[in-house]
Amino acid sequence: MITVALAKGRLAQKATELLEKCGLQLDELKTDTRKLVLYDNSGEYKFVFVKPSDVPTYVERGVADFGVVGKDTLLEADKDIYEMLDLGFGKCRMCVCGYKDSLKNAGGILRIGTKYDKITKEYFGRQGKTIDIIKLHGSIELAPIIGLSDVIVDIVESGKTLEANGLCVLEEICSCSARLVVNTVSLKTKKTLLDLIEKIRTVI
Ligand code: PRP
Repeated sequence: MITVALAKGRLAQKATELLEKCGLQLDELKTDTRKLVLYDNSGEYKFVFVKPSDVPTYVERGVADFGVVGKDTLLEADKDIYEMLDLGFGKCRMCVCGYKDSLKNAGGILRIGTKYDKITKEYFGRQGKTIDIIKLHGSIELAPIIGLSDVIVDIVESGKTLEANGLCVLEEICSCSARLVVNTVSLKTKKTLLDLIEKIRTVI
């Protein structure tokens, strides 16, 4: 049995399509259900649907053999797991965003609204900038609009959310996409897992 951790939301559908291309039959995954544990048609693969930020934990602890998660989440999680493949979908950019002059107009301590405190600390730490991180969990773009922060650090995909709220990209930190992450012990002990990863490699 191989257990797969998938991030609820944007990446799960793409990951499902990819695994189908590799020959898995995933009828149950396409049903409208609230079940958190689902199986492929053969019963050989078990799928758990978790919050994106929890995927690295499931894989690190070995309750999932592998998972699909965004590079942004991976950088933030800093877990002992093997990032094996860039799957090429879910592309976005991690950026510092705000109003055009937000960085220039900020006071001595730059106030930053973000979900990504680790990435933010590292990025501004390299610049030697003094910052105040305001940890948020969603609707990050609201922070500069309402005066909670000077800028935000967040992912930008189409750029539509920024545009709709009169904000723009000020600096790009890195680009991100979906990654296949693997439990290091499973990789050494489960032949089916190795075979599947080889198939995925040829399909992407
Ligand atoms: C993410 C991100 C941005 C938006 C960017 O939010 O935090 O708000 O997507 O996408 P765009 O460039 O295509 O507009 P998400 O939809 O994950 O919701 P959240 O506000 O709960 O973080």
